[in-house]
Amino acid sequence: MSTDATTDYAMTLPAPAGADAFQRSPLRPAEPGPGEALVRQTAVGLNFLDVYHRTGQYPWPSERDQIIGSEAAGVVEAVGQGASGIAPGDRVAYTIPFGAYCTRRVVPADRLVRLPDGVADEVAATVMLKGMTAHYLIHSTFRVEPGMTVLVHAASGGVGLLLGQWLAAIGATAIGTAGGPEKVTLAREHGYAHVIDYRAHDFAEEVRAITEGAGLHVLYDSVGRDTWEGSLKCLRPRGMYVCFGQASGPVEGLGIKQLAAGGSLYATRPSLFHYIATREELEERAASLFARIADGTLRSEVRQRFALSDVGQAHAALEGRQTVGASVLIP
Ligand SMILES: NC(=O)c1ccc[n+]([C@@H]2O[C@H](COP(=O)([O-])OP(=O)(O)OC[C@H]3O[C@@H](n4cnc5c(N)ncnc54)[C@H](OP(=O)(O)O)[C@@H]3O)[C@@H](O)[C@H]2O)c1
Repeated sequence: MSTDATTDYAMTLPAPAGADAFQRSPLRPAEPGPGEALVRQTAVGLNFLDVYHRTGQYPWPSERDQIIGSEAAGVVEAVGQGASGIAPGDRVAYTIPFGAYCTRRVVPADRLVRLPDGVADEVAATVMLKGMTAHYLIHSTFRVEPGMTVLVHAASGGVGLLLGQWLAAIGATAIGTAGGPEKVTLAREHGYAHVIDYRAHDFAEEVRAITEGAGLHVLYDSVGRDTWEGSLKCLRPRGMYVCFGQASGPVEGLGIKQLAAGGSLYATRPSLFHYIATREELEERAASLFARIADGTLRSEVRQRFALSDVGQAHAALEGRQTVGASVLIP
């Protein structure tokens, strides 16, 4: 862990690039300006969002910015003028689309949340993006009620394990899909009542059988290209298709006519950053998440740990479907 400003570094990258293109570059963080805070980072989250940025599937910020990474936890070292609610020494975490793959950075203070004692830095660095995503998907994009039947693709992934536990706590019947027997077992241990190995079985047929033909109230699809067509077949009339990621590639060819043919379906493509745009929403979602971690409803174990300087290996593992649950990068 870096404690000395002279050892600060960032993992930089030209975009788009392969996972082996990361370079360790010396870093001299700026002084925090008005409304900003300087954070020494103790744990950085790994997200599929970072893969989309690295590969150019999502737009790169600008030629000047060469640091990706979207969530982290750490300690405030200094604050700029007017940065309220935060002080040097506070343990904090954040999610911002870019710039997290470094040891120390300046961030807008109004994007930081203070960490309660019961939430360790490594856990915070894995739930700011993934956990608040789980929160908005099942409370705001579609309000899941007790007794509803819901499907989540990639159920043993970072977001997937959190969704399964939260859906079970609400009293919904959660169905997951996962690639391979070990991932199926892990998803079952995290709230899913049924888990389908979608590499071995036609998940739409399985869902019809599990729901006795009734179909789902809502389906959360982060896989995209490989799953969207089958996913529409799983919904009941007036069901909701939520496409919140594209691990297999983007959804192309979904036309509005298919929503009518499927039974007056709804479809949406949400992004977390539109659901935490205000300080109030950010605080509300973070507080709800931390409360669920504190009362044991949500377990967020770190399942893969990499040195920040090995972020290329971490990307290769995530992209290669070799990870389960959450991963962290340690500066
Ligand atoms: N819109 C938002 O607000 C938002 C926010 C956060 C995350 N997300 C999305 O949520 C998803 C999960 O994110 P995460 O960081 O927790 O990742 P993750 O689920 O831990 O990893 C992605 C998983 O997707 C599955 N997958 C299916 N087809 C794949 C393919 N062709 N290549 C690679 N993986 C494939 C793999 O699981 P199997 O082997 O079981 O298939 C893989 O482990 C991502 O798509 C991400 O973009 C969206």
